[in-house]
Amino acid sequence: MGGCFSVSLPCDQVVSQFSQLLCVRGSYIHNLSENLASLEKAMRMLKAQQYDVIRRLEREEFTGRQQRLSQVQVWLTSVLLIQNQFDDLLPSKEVELQRLCLCGFCSKDLKLSYRYGKRVNMMLREVESLRSQGFFDVVAEATPFAEVDEIPFQPTIVGQEIMLEKAWNCLMEDGSGILGLYGMGGVGKTTLLTKINNKFSKIGDRFDVVIWVVVSRSSTDRKIQRDIAEKVGLGGMEWGERNDNQTAVDIHNVLRRRKFVLLLDDIWEKVNLKAVGVPYPSKDNGCKVAFTTRSRDVCGRMGVDDPMEVSCLQPEESWDLFQMIVGKNTLGSHPDIPGLARKVARKCRGLPLALNVIGEAMACKRTVHEWSHAIDVLTSSATDFSGMEDEILHVLKYSYDNLNGELMKSCFLYCSLFPEDYLIDKEGLVDYWICEGFINEKEGRERTLNQGYEIIGTLVRACLLMEEERNKSNVKMHDVVREMALWISSDLGKQRRNVLCELVLGYVKYHKSRIGTL
Ligand SMILES: Nc1ncnc2c1ncn2[C@@H]1O[C@H](COP(=O)(O)OP(=O)(O)OP(=O)(O)O)[C@@H](O)[C@H]1O
Ligand SMILES: [Mg+2]
Repeated sequence: MGGCFSVSLPCDQVVSQFSQLLCVRGSYIHNLSENLASLEKAMRMLKAQQYDVIRRLEREEFTGRQQRLSQVQVWLTSVLLIQNQFDDLLPSKEVELQRLCLCGFCSKDLKLSYRYGKRVNMMLREVESLRSQGFFDVVAEATPFAEVDEIPFQPTIVGQEIMLEKAWNCLMEDGSGILGLYGMGGVGKTTLLTKINNKFSKIGDRFDVVIWVVVSRSSTDRKIQRDIAEKVGLGGMEWGERNDNQTAVDIHNVLRRRKFVLLLDDIWEKVNLKAVGVPYPSKDNGCKVAFTTRSRDVCGRMGVDDPMEVSCLQPEESWDLFQMIVGKNTLGSHPDIPGLARKVARKCRGLPLALNVIGEAMACKRTVHEWSHAIDVLTSSATDFSGMEDEILHVLKYSYDNLNGELMKSCFLYCSLFPEDYLIDKEGLVDYWICEGFINEKEGRERTLNQGYEIIGTLVRACLLMEEERNKSNVKMHDVVREMALWISSDLGKQRRNVLCELVLGYVKYHKSRIGTL
């Protein structure tokens, strides 16, 4: 029943094909020694070719303007792969050669010799093919990155035109290559730096690249290097395997050939430009570095002795911003609301962060009762106000957390015991700290006073206290910062009574001692 079919081939054709097959298979064995030698030679040539291509790539990619072609990368990966296979194959070379007999025409184990010989033969063909593909006229092409990435910011920015112009002029002045912007949390430093960044995109090609790096508290040199490297086209596999010093050299080699602008947002400590690999900006290289920080001390450490303060908005600017955030409809929903809204806006004391958060919370409140209630809450227990804790106080608290040591922190919190907007006499403040036992007078009055003034200075430079412009012997606390201090003293809002007691005690102590001085 089984089907039976036959294929008829001329007999001499079958014999010829069979003998050819035997011949090829036989050649795996009797040409093994010769093939191995050819393979080793071809491999050496391929490695030399690979080395040349990598050198060319390094030269072109180091400018930061070029990136390797995909076909070159595919070739390099294939070369790596074949190298690994070659390294696997080579150790058994001697054993395999010894296995041959009859002057290399036969083997003591035909099967093993055949397999090995076949691998050698195939690999030889692949290496030769890779060699023929490895002659590239071009290995890289221009990197398609935008030289300045425009960064979006909220449309309702008020009152930064003058500051922007001043900061821009200061940065672009021939002599100065580095600009420091400092100011309290939420005052608009990042916003101003964003505007500076975007302005670079409108001035044509005076700079090769503008690099924006968000630093923040937990940042490291490594993270800064990574951001810079990515922007200048140094990202990638090989870079990831390099240590900080090698990366600094790589970055330096790219940036020293380019006119760059580096914008560092939110630094809390000195960023060591040299360690990161950034050439120091100078008149000669025409490069620029600008940074923002909450600490004036950091500006000094960065070598900027005349930093620019980003200050709170003026009352009319605050009101403009608040109106924009709350919206005309809400403000027009009752004739009494604008008057109440002005009172709410005033509570923010010109701090854009607070104006935005509080304005947004009030945007949907359209009755006089709700607005009156908002004023009550902001006056008696501002932390209860919607968004105050999460979006304002927590953000500002980083400045407190960054203070060095418990003494500094206690002295700062103590200042919140003075009433809102109170002008605090510096020497009087040091006396209260002495009374509280924060600092003691054992070392003599002058040394203690100096210590007290040093603490005040540190708090001022951290933007947690404000020095009076006209009378430098007074300081005061921004109202929102004071709220933050009271909130911290109450264990982040968990123990309000304690704060009240301390407040009362503070006032009593304060007034008693003032009476004593009269
Ligand atoms: N001049 C302004 N007009 C309107 N809104 C502003 C202004 N400045 C800042 N803002 C807004 O206030 C908020 C805080 O601003 P920004 O992040 O720039 O402050 P910052 O000083 O960088 O704060 P931080 O110290 O926390 O980094 C943002 O929502 C921002 O859009
Ligand atoms: Mg910021």
